[in-house]
Order: sequence, then structure tokens, then C-alpha cells
Amino acid sequence: MFQRNWASKIAMFQTILSTPTRGTATCLQWILAGIGTAALALVLNLIPALMPLGLEARADDGAASTVPARPDDSLYQALGQKTGIAAIVGDMYDRVLVDPRIRAYFVDAPQKRVRQKLTEQICVLAGGPCQYTGRTMAESHKGLGIDQPAFNALVEDLQLAMDKYHVPYREQNKLLAKLAPMYRVIIEK
Ligand code: HEM
Repeated sequence: MFQRNWASKIAMFQTILSTPTRGTATCLQWILAGIGTAALALVLNLIPALMPLGLEARADDGAASTVPARPDDSLYQALGQKTGIAAIVGDMYDRVLVDPRIRAYFVDAPQKRVRQKLTEQICVLAGGPCQYTGRTMAESHKGLGIDQPAFNALVEDLQLAMDKYHVPYREQNKLLAKLAPMYRVIIEK
């Protein structure tokens, strides 16, 4: 193959030399083609040398950017994942509806929606694979006139629900600590 190529090139070269009218132009083409071939050969030769570098760089980048720190979902697990959280919220809501301290707030509330949004919210706060699709706390509670005793009452109902589902105290406190910052947004009195 190598020999055949060179033989045909020499043959072509001889043809060029024997064709005086087109000789100069074609000679230039040959020189340019020669330079092109040499450049191509250089690049092709360099590829094996460059490849490991490229692959190594990609591997490093990948290691740095595609392996995130493992999210802490211990609270999510302790609450019993999505089903457990839904059950806790459901139980809390049932308690709220018969709690003389706060039931008045919930009489006209869209019960199904609040249960659903609260479940999503607690799931997210606990580190679970959920998305909160509800309104902000400020929007949701605007104008309800919620005071501190009402807030405490709801938290107590939540604690009773977590007790019922055997959530350890340590995990209960973790969830309450995550809800605590919402206090100043929800309270209006
Ligand atoms: C940290 C504590 C609380 C959290 C995380 C919370 C969370 C939520 C969520 C997620 C919603 C539904 C949002 C939406 O519709 O998109 C909601 C609505 C509501 N919350 Fe709360 N809430 C808290 C405290 C309270 C308290 C203390 C009360 C009253 C005692 C209360 C009464 C209500 C009512 C009545 C609604 C329904 C409002 C409506 O749409 O008519 N919430 N809450």
C-alpha cells in the first residue's frame, strides 16, 4: 500500500514534469499538499499522546462536579419517608380540627390542599426527595391573625402526632428546629 502510493505519486510527479504548461501551478499544489499531509501526520501522531491528558482532565472534572456530597436524609427516614410524613400530617390535622384552641382557624381552610402542601413542605425540610409547590408562609397566613398561643398549640398537635408514629424525640426536635424560623413570618399578633 505504502509502496503503491509512493509509486503512483512518483508517476504523477513525472507526468507533471512532462507537462510544462501546467507544471508550475501543479508543483505548488504538490508542495501545499505535502505540507498539509505533514501537518495531518503530526496531529494524528499527537492524538494518542493527547488523549490520556484529555481523558484525565475529564475524569478529574467529573470527580469534582458530578459526585455531590450525600444529602442528609436521616430526618426524612426517621419520619417514615413520604407515607410516614403524610400520616403524621394527617393525624396532626385531625387533632387541629378538634382542638378548641385553634380549630376556628381551620374551619374554612381548604383542608385537602393544606394537608398536601404541609406534607410536601415537611418532606423537603426533612431532606426528602420532594418539591414544595405551595405558597410562601407569609402569603398562606396573611390576615389570619395567628398569635403565639395558637402557634404553640399547632406545634403541640404536631408533637402528639409524631409521638403516635414513634418518631424519636431527637428527630422530633430536629423537625421543630426547622419549623421555628417560620414563627416570625406566621405570627401577626
Ligand atoms: C410552622 C408552622 C406552620 C407551617 C409549616 C404551616 C404551613 C402551612 C402550609 C404549607 C399551608 C398551605 C399553603 C398553600 O396553600 O399553598 C398552610 C395554610 C394554612 N395554615 Fe399554616 N402553617 C404553620 C402554622 C400555622 C398555624 C399556627 C396556624 C393557625 C393556628 C395555621 C393555619 C393555617 C391555615 C388556616 C391555612 C389555610 C389558609 C387558606 O388557604 O385559607 N398555620 N400552612
